Amino acid sequence: MAELLVTGGAGFIGSNFVHHVIDTTDHSVVVLDKLTYAGNLASLEGLPAERVTFVQGDITDAPLVDDLVSRTDAVVHFAAESHNDNSLDDPRPFLDTNIVGTYTLLEAVRRHGTRYHHISTDEVYGDLELDDPARFTESTPYNPSSPYSSTKAGSDLLVRAWVRSFGLQATISNCSNNYGPYQHVEKFIPRQITNVLRGQRPRLYGAGQNVRDWIHANDHSSAVLTILAKGRIGETYLIGADGEKSNKDVVELILTILGKPADDYEHVTDRAGHDLRYAIDSSKLRRELGWTPKYRDFEAGLRATIDWYASNEAWWAPSKDATEAFYAAKGQ
Ligand code: NAD
Ligand code: TYD
Repeated sequence: MAELLVTGGAGFIGSNFVHHVIDTTDHSVVVLDKLTYAGNLASLEGLPAERVTFVQGDITDAPLVDDLVSRTDAVVHFAAESHNDNSLDDPRPFLDTNIVGTYTLLEAVRRHGTRYHHISTDEVYGDLELDDPARFTESTPYNPSSPYSSTKAGSDLLVRAWVRSFGLQATISNCSNNYGPYQHVEKFIPRQITNVLRGQRPRLYGAGQNVRDWIHANDHSSAVLTILAKGRIGETYLIGADGEKSNKDVVELILTILGKPADDYEHVTDRAGHDLRYAIDSSKLRRELGWTPKYRDFEAGLRATIDWYASNEAWWAPSKDATEAFYAAKGQ
């Protein structure tokens, strides 16, 4: 049994991770989260108070971070500014949280000799052509496209440097696109589901040919727990579940599941610098640590996610209007 400090635990993947830890281990959790527009305490409702403690705070607050790290066995760092479209509008918070915030955590875990796991994204590798048989591996060169992915890449490189120069007890994982409950309605899948639930048409950027490699958030969580338990210090592990789908196919599936004509969507202004395709080769994680994904049926996982949004309008409705106003101003 251990105590984990989970940064960003009120966000999408962080909150799914906290639920997963409580459901599948005997660890306890301290969540450190700033509660930006993306954080939501309602995502942590129903968790046992004796095992989950919440601290509202900023990962760039060095004294606070030092105090929390001094009292924990391991840090799992999810907190980030996470949305590409926001990063194109206003990059500054991405530099502060993703770069300076990670630096602040690294200095604290260095001082206290604490085990650290760094959560990152496959977007640090840039993108692939649609017809390229290759997928990203741990040795693919970094080539990020957006302010979001470049700040995540920068934070990964800080971790690698702190391992090499200071002997930090750290591991890194780079995961593909997650879906599941508690995801903010700014993101692709929840935006389209909640549009249809509200009688609005889904919005596809450009032609909709872009491919993302989808993984259920619970599979991401189980992979992170596996790396925490068995990962080799200093190593990077790619996490993916062989879930490549074009955006157009995903929108058509959402519409079909919700009983609408499959072509009842709109094409809108494309994202600047829009990455074409992401695809993960996760064989290192599977071979070395014995991890496998459980949620292999994307349509079943999507149906369950749609059911969750249909049953939890009170969770997402407060963010929906502001999100759509942001997109409308950009022609999206
Ligand atoms: P999210 O935006 O849903 O959640 C981010 C959380 O971090 C929020 O609760 C927010 O309040 C908190 N936060 C932001 N700035 C903070 C700060 N300065 N101090 C403390 N807390 C702060 O993001 P997500 O989609 O859950 O992503 C979590 C992590 O996973 C990120 O590091 C992201 O890069 C990575 N990741 C995401 C995906 C994906 O598909 N969403 C895929 C791979 C990796
Ligand atoms: P997103 O969820 O923002 O994740 P990421 O940019 O990290 O991959 O977007 C997923 C894909 O969906 C991406 O190709 C952009 C596209 N997209 C749309 O077509 N329409 C939308 O309304 C949104 C938000 C995204």
